[in-house]
Amino acid sequence: MNNLFIIEHPLLQAKLTVLRDKRTKRQEFRQTLSEIAMLMTYDITRNIPVSHIKVETPLEETSGIVLNKDVTLVPILRAGLGMIDGILELLPDARVGHVGVYRDKKTLLPVEYYLKLPENVKETFVILVDPMLATGGSALAAIEILKQKGIKELNFLCLVAAPEGVRAVHEKFPDVKIFTAALDRQLNDHGYILPGLGDAGDRLYGTE
Ligand code: PRP
Ligand code: URA
Repeated sequence: MNNLFIIEHPLLQAKLTVLRDKRTKRQEFRQTLSEIAMLMTYDITRNIPVSHIKVETPLEETSGIVLNKDVTLVPILRAGLGMIDGILELLPDARVGHVGVYRDKKTLLPVEYYLKLPENVKETFVILVDPMLATGGSALAAIEILKQKGIKELNFLCLVAAPEGVRAVHEKFPDVKIFTAALDRQLNDHGYILPGLGDAGDRLYGTE
């Protein structure tokens, strides 16, 4: 699949295993989700625009780089929030926009309820964040909103993706780069990812 990047580093996969485990309690789930998001940030920013500069070491001048674009993180509420602190560890100056979308439990269709983005979002390096890509409905709704704001290049950071969700996003937006730690087998009849990790928002916030 084009524009699908599966990050297979063992440190990351070991943390994903902790998140999948149904015995993992809330505090460890939160901590691990945040840590995994930090590790994934390393990969997702691989092609972030940079400028070349000169720098003086104590001994001589050499060349170096600086990031030359602001970064905007856009978590999809609620579960996307659980990855933001980890990403901010590596990108402490990033702006954070918020998109509120939840999936109706019966129809599985996305319901939008909140939107707040930085003014200059289309000039920044944008990372849309949500641990779960299931039917793709929530991601598509968020991507639609961001595209309407004039954002051309969009990176989507998730943790577990279903093939159905990846297909749905790429059918409509083939240019969106999807980064995930796992491409799982399938969805069940209720739209949950198998094997997955259950309901990410509920496990994060104790609303199961
Ligand atoms: C979960 C998840 C995604 C969405 C994925 O959120 O965090 O946003 O489901 O499913 P989809 O690809 O089929 O749209 P949920 O709707 O449970 O909302 P919550 O984060 O508020 O719990
Ligand atoms: N949302 C979740 O949190 N988990 C799934 O498996 C599917 C959608």
